[in-house]
Amino acid sequence: MLEISGLSKIFGGLTAVGDFSMTVGKGEFVGVIGPNGAGKTTLMNLITGYLPPSSGDIRFEGTSLVGLAPYQISHRGIGRTFQVVRPFSEMSVEDNVMTGALFSGQRAATLAKAREAAELPMELTGLTAKRHVMAGALTLGEKKKLELARALATSPRLLLLDEVMGGVNRGEVDELMLVLQRIHAAGVTIVMIEHLVEVIIALSMRVVVLNFGRKLYEGSPDEVVEHPDVIESYLGRPLDVEAA
Ligand SMILES: Nc1ncnc2c1ncn2[C@@H]1O[C@H](COP(=O)(O)OP(=O)(O)OP(=O)(O)O)[C@@H](O)[C@H]1O
Ligand SMILES: [Mg+2]
Repeated sequence: MLEISGLSKIFGGLTAVGDFSMTVGKGEFVGVIGPNGAGKTTLMNLITGYLPPSSGDIRFEGTSLVGLAPYQISHRGIGRTFQVVRPFSEMSVEDNVMTGALFSGQRAATLAKAREAAELPMELTGLTAKRHVMAGALTLGEKKKLELARALATSPRLLLLDEVMGGVNRGEVDELMLVLQRIHAAGVTIVMIEHLVEVIIALSMRVVVLNFGRKLYEGSPDEVVEHPDVIESYLGRPLDVEAA
């Protein structure tokens, strides 16, 4: 589905992403971890067209995305969330989700159609009961759900998540994990950047570890947490997977 090859992004003298390659198959749930500044968000910005690559290629369902604008990539079927959530605070939950449908590839032609298209995303994220609440009044965990719902309203086949769990409390982390499992079960392929390694371990089928813009390791969740390089560069200590 997604094929990244030899991808690099250089800012001045800094290689934020260096000669990075990975593939994502349809139906997968892939986790991406790595220390602060490893290049995770940059990688996501490259895939979604928010940044042009310095070199390399990104292919989605057989065609290159390089040179396309973010809206064009969204129309091709790739949705994303942002590390810092930014809902329209003065608009209701439902209206926020509708904006996703109005600007998607199968652009909803009418407000009624957009309203209809907002139903499933609100249901999958558990926001249906909050549809008339102003987005600004939501908890951070609910804002993260809204961010997910708005991305889902663009009808993505591939969804890229940048630290959906960042800053939310433990109870909300558990809820968000269920939401992500529902989204994946509904047929959406997911690539998830996350600092909470136990969340990545619990949800991912495969984990990619980034360090200084390069792929340090790639393997099953169990392999990754036991790998000496990963422990040294990132985890700092072996992770107790049983406790996760
Ligand atoms: N627009 C930019 N201009 C210059 N340098 C940048 C830019 N964006 C990112 N960087 C640098 O590129 C490197 C990778 O940053 P990036 O935000 O991708 O890391 P990250 O893995 O997402 O980190 P975090 O876990 O803190 O979110 C960092 O050194 C960062 O300072
Ligand atoms: Mg980041």
